[in-house]
Amino acid sequence: MEDMHQVIFICNAVMTLLFLFSIESVKSNNLCRGYFEIKKYQLSPLKIEYRSGMQGPNRPTDKKILHSVKTMLAVEGGVQLVCTRVEALMRRRDAGDLSAEGAEADAVLKQACDLIIIVLTGDDAMHTLYNNGVGEVYLTMVKWLESRNWQLLTTAVLAIGNFARQDDYCAQMMQDHIFDKLLDIFEVYNAFGLRMLKEPEAARPVEPATVSKVQHAVLAALRNLIVPVPNKRVAAAKGRAAPMLLSALPHVDDHHVAYKLLAAIRMLVDGQESVARQLATNREALSAVARWGHAGEHAGAAGEAPRLLAWAGKQLRHSDHWRHIVEVEGCISSLVNMLIVCHSVMQNEAILALTLLAIESLNKKSPSNESPSDFDYEKSFISQLIKSEIGKHVTVLIETNNAKMPKEVAENLLAFLDITSKNNKLAFDYKEAKVNESLKKFCESRKDFSDDLKACINGVVASISDNGKAE
Ligand SMILES: *[C@@H]1O[C@H](CO)[C@@H](O)[C@H](O)[C@H]1NC(C)=O
Repeated sequence: MEDMHQVIFICNAVMTLLFLFSIESVKSNNLCRGYFEIKKYQLSPLKIEYRSGMQGPNRPTDKKILHSVKTMLAVEGGVQLVCTRVEALMRRRDAGDLSAEGAEADAVLKQACDLIIIVLTGDDAMHTLYNNGVGEVYLTMVKWLESRNWQLLTTAVLAIGNFARQDDYCAQMMQDHIFDKLLDIFEVYNAFGLRMLKEPEAARPVEPATVSKVQHAVLAALRNLIVPVPNKRVAAAKGRAAPMLLSALPHVDDHHVAYKLLAAIRMLVDGQESVARQLATNREALSAVARWGHAGEHAGAAGEAPRLLAWAGKQLRHSDHWRHIVEVEGCISSLVNMLIVCHSVMQNEAILALTLLAIESLNKKSPSNESPSDFDYEKSFISQLIKSEIGKHVTVLIETNNAKMPKEVAENLLAFLDITSKNNKLAFDYKEAKVNESLKKFCESRKDFSDDLKACINGVVASISDNGKAE
């Protein structure tokens, strides 16, 4: 939501909630003061806009005002009041003691929940409400994780995801078993999803859209919780998250859920060889990653999938399990496609993963132990690279980045080309795609390359000419 819209939303939400909860005692409460202050704030950006003629969502003042509105609602106890009223509303509804229509109560509930989450996206508000893990709102959210009402449950999960933006809070929440609670929720909703897939005609305890919504929120929160390294270790060591997330992967068909699932698994794979192995040896999961890697119409999932492969590949450099990435159709081509995404960090990840796979596949034809004897890794790797048009991708990578390619990325790319251009078939593909010409221009245009790097480039150019003979 655009900042100004958020301000207006908060004002309206507070006003509606005050009216609908219509509790006389609230009048003397801080919330009213807060509300009237918001009202005051709401007017000022409009005035500023009018005077300076600034338009659009990036007016610097909007951000500041929005931030102070959120902070004020947190500090003044507005969010806690909303939580208390929501709970009262739920109690009255459960007791059948509600004069309002069901739909009306649902609308109030939704607005209240949206308000809580919007306020929590403010940094200062989030810190205030967490209050070292003893904040009333934080504790209420933890309590709502057990709620049977999906709206409260989703709100709680989204709130936890917001608190989990702070590393030290993540550590505390891990200790408080929040991670396990989130896995419990994921397990339940994933089972709902599976049942809907298997028996589409059966009566549904929950709407499909709700199932996706909860899963999406849970996965985002799980991901945030395992950004800090110590939490990844704990999550991997406990051994529950990886199998659960990996076994869910092949059955997810909502691309938003897939995006968050892939992202959560990637956070778990990071630095955890054991998790990378579990992914590599789970053929169905690996195929699903490859499939999402080619779902170009869904940018989120299609961007996450090859990153997950690249991060897993990095963890598998000390073991034989890299071979599964070569075996499963679509993994290599996802990595090749990742060479031409626009961020150099990701280009570099793709280059490093392909280099590791090249070293392994081209040097040791068969992995030392328990390899399927009839699989030729070298042949497969080369033909997959060629089918993915590796030469064209390398040319595009060099030509579109040229001057702005960081030197380390250039060095890594050269290492990859150095290894692969020794192979005739690959050298021929490079020649066809004019990689040698791009490299020459690249080398001439960059003054910052060392003599060693330049020598390496010239070596690769020569190698492409010498080896790239049509057969
Ligand atoms: C690149 O290779 C092609 C084909 O062998 C050759 O004609 C061309 O001169 C080479 N370019 C450079 C810069 O070496």
